[in-house]
Amino acid sequence: MGWYEDDDVWVGFADVMFPPRRAAEAQRLVATSPLLKVAGGDRVLDLACGPATHVVPLAAQGAEVTGVDLSMAMLALARAACERAGVTARLVRADMREFVERDSYDLVVNMYTSFGYFTDPGDNLAVLRNANASLVPGGRMLVDVLGKEVLAGWVGRPQAVDVDGGTVFMRDTILEDWTRLRTDWTYVRGTEIRRTSIHCVLYSAAELRALFQAAGFTEVECFGDFDGSPYDNHARRLIVRGTRA
Ligand SMILES: C[S@@+](CC[C@H](N)C(=O)[O-])C[C@H]1O[C@@H](n2cnc3c(N)ncnc32)[C@H](O)[C@@H]1O
Repeated sequence: MGWYEDDDVWVGFADVMFPPRRAAEAQRLVATSPLLKVAGGDRVLDLACGPATHVVPLAAQGAEVTGVDLSMAMLALARAACERAGVTARLVRADMREFVERDSYDLVVNMYTSFGYFTDPGDNLAVLRNANASLVPGGRMLVDVLGKEVLAGWVGRPQAVDVDGGTVFMRDTILEDWTRLRTDWTYVRGTEIRRTSIHCVLYSAAELRALFQAAGFTEVECFGDFDGSPYDNHARRLIVRGTRA
């Protein structure tokens, strides 16, 4: 079983990964970001949608949203979030390596470092190829990850986040000559200790742009934040956008 198939990762650390302030931040981004702008009736696919963090605000803007996730537990949280917000979205359990609905979407998003999970480079490429095939001609794909250049600025600094009476400690380890990242999470609450590890491919802007091009995307652009700012020394994220020819 791949680490990403383990619900202890997503559900066990949901308090840290998906706190209410992230849903509020997603709502702000969808309302203001030129990269996430949707019009009523746009068909949007959120690959690895998690607890509907972006599905809810995108649907609230009038988009017809499909959220895909491998985890039944995450999809249950997504369903509950949609109900609470009073929005309708289609939620599908599928593996992003396999999910394809040809010529069906105006926008595909993959948010909050949900890309690069697979050890086989062909699998990560397959996610982009499938997204390309699922878009209508002229449709766009957006991937939001922590770029290698951004990470290099703060890797190694210990991080601790207080959540719900406990603390989560995060430690990054760079692997295989900066090609992969392992982040170890330790949740300590009273006498309870839980651990998990997340493994991701680390992409520089040039590497992720090349992968988009290999998957068939044109007009590939890199951004450093959701306001559309450049991927430069002030970048906070690596956001890559490509267009289906
Ligand atoms: C970091 S979370 C991000 C969730 C969401 N995009 C957000 O912004 O909150 C990553 C999500 O990827 C999902 N996931 C992991 N492997 C997957 C796969 N092979 N196919 C589809 N979803 C997957 C997990 O279940 C989890 O919900």
